[in-house]
Amino acid sequence: GAGKLWGGRFAGGPAPALEALSRSTHFDWRLTPYDLAGSRAHAGALHRAGLLADDDHAELLRGLDVLAQRYAAGELQPDPDDEDVHGALERLLLEEVGPEVGGRLRAGRSRNDQIATLLKVYLRDHARAVAALVLDLVDTLAVQAREHLGDRPTVMPGRTHLQHAQPVLLAHHLAAHAWPLLRDVDRLLDWDARVAGDSPYGSGALAGQSLGLDPTAVADELGFTGSSANSIDGTAARDFVAEFAYVAAQVGVDVSRLAEEVVLWATKEFGFVVLHDAWSTGSSIMPQKKNPDVAELARGKAGRLVGNLAGLLTTLKALPLAYNRDLQEDKEPVFDSVDTLEVLLPAFTGMVATLEFDRERLASLAPQGFSLATDVAEWLVREDVPFRVAHEVAGACVRRCEELGVELHELTDEQLAAISPALTPAVRDVLTVEGSVASRDGRGGTAPARVREQLDELGERSGAL
Ligand code: ARG
Repeated sequence: GAGKLWGGRFAGGPAPALEALSRSTHFDWRLTPYDLAGSRAHAGALHRAGLLADDDHAELLRGLDVLAQRYAAGELQPDPDDEDVHGALERLLLEEVGPEVGGRLRAGRSRNDQIATLLKVYLRDHARAVAALVLDLVDTLAVQAREHLGDRPTVMPGRTHLQHAQPVLLAHHLAAHAWPLLRDVDRLLDWDARVAGDSPYGSGALAGQSLGLDPTAVADELGFTGSSANSIDGTAARDFVAEFAYVAAQVGVDVSRLAEEVVLWATKEFGFVVLHDAWSTGSSIMPQKKNPDVAELARGKAGRLVGNLAGLLTTLKALPLAYNRDLQEDKEPVFDSVDTLEVLLPAFTGMVATLEFDRERLASLAPQGFSLATDVAEWLVREDVPFRVAHEVAGACVRRCEELGVELHELTDEQLAAISPALTPAVRDVLTVEGSVASRDGRGGTAPARVREQLDELGERSGAL
């Protein structure tokens, strides 16, 4: 076929079934702009090494520009005969500038160092795009949090084991979803810093190149800060793909934890939130339905993102050095992770931005389930009762409440005193949600002033990224 980069040593063409198996243009075509940029840089390296005359260099650059423009205009397509993006673009370049000039470009490089480089540049671009989308979600959570941190901050039942545990501020809980996402952005930046120093161009097929090309200049032109120190590693390593897929999976998992809560919160039983019409869906048969599909899809996509990571690691496990064609299997999963996050995050952020919380219901549920029992115990500690005893006494209060069918604040002074003489009426200070929340005023705690501080800190950190 026309887009073959090999054939000299073969008597006949490849079998059609092999071609069908081997072909990757249907998924690697998106690397076209990156391949063309790599070729431009490589042409420069050949030129500087004295392997490309001035006018040939200029003609190659012209041809590459034409292809880039045609691609941008949606007019460039691979042929069914093309094996991969590299072969297709060489064929198209030869058609544009002729075989004489076009045939000079491939000297000193291999598809092995090419693909390793291009995938890095592609993923670096998308790491930035994904990071920006994650930061949008962080900001949106912070805006929602601040809306519920006014004069009367919204309180809610904080849970462990999904059981009522202690009352917390809604702002505190929302911010707890923002911090992991901010760390994910950090992870993307950290990943990028590691990839930036390691441009594989110049590694050749595996052993390096013999033509005196300057890989640093190529690296520089492609936005890297350095080139691979080991050409075998440069062509064989794909830990950068797996690491990207891990961060993508972690973003998906972090989003899925909020998604699961939104699904629960939107049920009749919880009744914590109402979803905006624009961000929920109906049922084809049940007219009353308003479904949290965005959150459910987020939950589902997390599985897909984890699957992409697992698939990549499995492909890489025990793969001998250097390049093996197995490595072509790196692209579909990681491209899918990129596409999944780029379609998921804007929708998820839109849904979060428009969540309507039912403050009254959250407030009325906050003290239920004896969620102030810890406050009773800690109040006793401040009254100099050893915690072990205080825990027993607070537990006895709960047992008495269960017998009487009342909540802790409904116990009378006499009932409290009967449980323990240490339980004077002053304990009532902490038997309100406001009192409980205000008392947790250590760093990171749920007291309104502390939550305001952490939102400031969150804003500073996200602003610095
Ligand atoms: N399409 C290949 C890949 O994605 C790159 C080409 C290397 N092919 C080869 N036969 N050496 O990894």
